[in-house]
Amino acid sequence: MRIVLIGFGTVGQSLARILAKDSDWLVGNYGFEPQVTAIVDSRGTCRDDNGLNLDLALKAKEKYGTVQKYPGNSERKQTTSQVISEAEAEAVIETTPSNFKNGEPGLTNIKQSLSARRHVVTSNKGPLALAMPALLELADHTRMQLRFSATVGAGTPFLTFASKCLPGEKILGIHGILNGTTNYILTRMEEDSLSFQRALAEAQEKGYAEKNPANDLEGLDTAAKIIIIANWILKRRISINQLKVTGIRDVTPDKILKAKKSGTRIKLIGRLEDSTATVKPEEVPVDDPVCVPGSLNALSFSTEHIGDVTLIGRGAGGEETASAIIRDLVDIRTEYSI
Ligand SMILES: NC(=O)c1ccc[n+]([C@@H]2O[C@H](COP(=O)([O-])OP(=O)(O)OC[C@H]3O[C@@H](n4cnc5c(N)ncnc54)[C@H](OP(=O)(O)O)[C@@H]3O)[C@@H](O)[C@H]2O)c1
Repeated sequence: MRIVLIGFGTVGQSLARILAKDSDWLVGNYGFEPQVTAIVDSRGTCRDDNGLNLDLALKAKEKYGTVQKYPGNSERKQTTSQVISEAEAEAVIETTPSNFKNGEPGLTNIKQSLSARRHVVTSNKGPLALAMPALLELADHTRMQLRFSATVGAGTPFLTFASKCLPGEKILGIHGILNGTTNYILTRMEEDSLSFQRALAEAQEKGYAEKNPANDLEGLDTAAKIIIIANWILKRRISINQLKVTGIRDVTPDKILKAKKSGTRIKLIGRLEDSTATVKPEEVPVDDPVCVPGSLNALSFSTEHIGDVTLIGRGAGGEETASAIIRDLVDIRTEYSI
C-alpha cells in the first residue's frame, strides 16, 4: 500500500518509527507492506514514488525541522494539493493539528484525497467534528474508505470495539471520560488538594496538556469525540454546534471536596442518551467503572441485552495513536487486497 503522510509531528513521526521497525512483522502477519511515497509538514514536502527511507526522513526532520531537506529531494516545493493528486498512493494519512473553528487544513486535505480516489486514515478530530456527515457521504460516493479509529481514545479501540464487537446489539447510550488532560487535572485537584492552576501547570510539565490547552479545558476535544461516536456508532447525524458543552474551568477545590465526601468524583463526562448529547463536569459514583484516575480514558456502552460494557485505556500518546492508524490501514488492506 503506497501512502502519503500529511503532518509529521508527534503522531506522524511515531508512525514512521513503527513502520520502519515493524515492516517485516507486518508483512509476515498481515501481508501488509506499507510504502510511504510522500511526507508533508508545515514547511515542505519530500517525495519518492519508489518509497521513502523513513529513517532518513526522521533524521532530516530532526536536523533541519522539515522533511523538505530529505537527501536528494527536489528543491522545488510542492503544495499539499499537488502531492495528494500527483504522488503514487492508494492511501493518505492525515495528522495535521485538530482545528475546531473551520477544520483546516485537514478538512480540505481529506476532501481532496477522497475526491482523488485515495483511502483516508486520520487522527485529526477537527474535520470530523465539523463535517462528519458530509465526509462520510463523500467517501461513500467516491467508494473510498474514511477511517478514524485514532480520533477517539488514541490507541484504545473504543470505535473498533463498538463497530466490530457489538453488531446486532442495540447500544442505548454511552458515557465516559474521553480526555486525559482534564482527567489528570481533576484527579490531582482531588488527590493533593491542588488549585486548578497548579494542577494545570503540573499537567503541562508532564506533557499531558498542550501549551494552549483551551480545547481540552473547555470540553471541545471531548465534544468532538462525542460527535464522532454519535455519527459512526449510533448513526445520529449531529455536529458540534448541536452539543451542549461545559468545560472544567469552574470546578473548584471546594466542589471536589464536597463530591469526595459524598462518595463521588467530579469528572468531565461526555454523554449520549436518547435525544440528548452533553459534555459537562458530573459527579460520578466511585464504583462506576468509568470513574478512572490520572490521564486514563474510560467509556461505557449501555446495551439492551448485555448491560453495560466498559473499556479503559490510555487516550493519548504518539505511539498509541500511530497504533490505531496502523490498525485502520491493515483493515483497509484486508478489505481491499491492496
Ligand atoms: N498526540 C496525541 O496523543 C494525539 C492523540 C489522538 C489524536 N491526535 C490528533 O492527531 C493530530 C496530530 O497530532 P500531533 O500530536 O502529531 O500534532 P503535532 O505534533 O502538532 O504535529 C502536527 C503536524 O502537522 C504539521 N502541519 C501543521 N500545519 C500543516 C499544514 N498546513 N500542512 C501540512 N502540515 C502541517 C506540522 O508541521 P511542522 O512539523 O512543520 O510543525 C506537524 O508536523 C492532531 O489532529 C491531534 O489532535 C493526537
